[in-house]
Amino acid sequence: MALIIWNDTLSVKVAELDGQHRKLIAMINDLTDAIPKGKGKAVMGQTVQGLIDYAKIHFRTEEKYFAQLGYPQAARHIQEHEAFTQKVTGFEAGSAQGQMGPSIQLLQFLGDWLIQHILKTDKEYVDFFSAKGLK
Ligand SMILES: [Fe+2]
Ligand SMILES: [Fe+2]
Repeated sequence: MALIIWNDTLSVKVAELDGQHRKLIAMINDLTDAIPKGKGKAVMGQTVQGLIDYAKIHFRTEEKYFAQLGYPQAARHIQEHEAFTQKVTGFEAGSAQGQMGPSIQLLQFLGDWLIQHILKTDKEYVDFFSAKGLK
């Protein structure tokens, strides 16, 4: 599976949020890279858990700005974050017991979801945040 390369089309023009997106992408790339090297499943499960936890922190950061600045499309955006969180909950339950290592399919899903979400849904707040002076 190809690694995700950061480029400027992914920027949402807010340094803190770009930094979080970059870290999420780096975490997915590190995991993708580690799979063929045969790291232990328990270790990998913990790392995926770390990625999911960090994604939740990131969602809370975006949602904090939505609330602070009165972002009109917040409800629909938050729904997407929640749908993602629900979808990965099944995996968390398994990895918590050390039963599953992450599959390429899971990482592919996480990576695809993240990139699509940034390019489509996160990008929708760029002009609004910029007009509010957030950068
Ligand atoms: Fe985001
Ligand atoms: Fe988002």
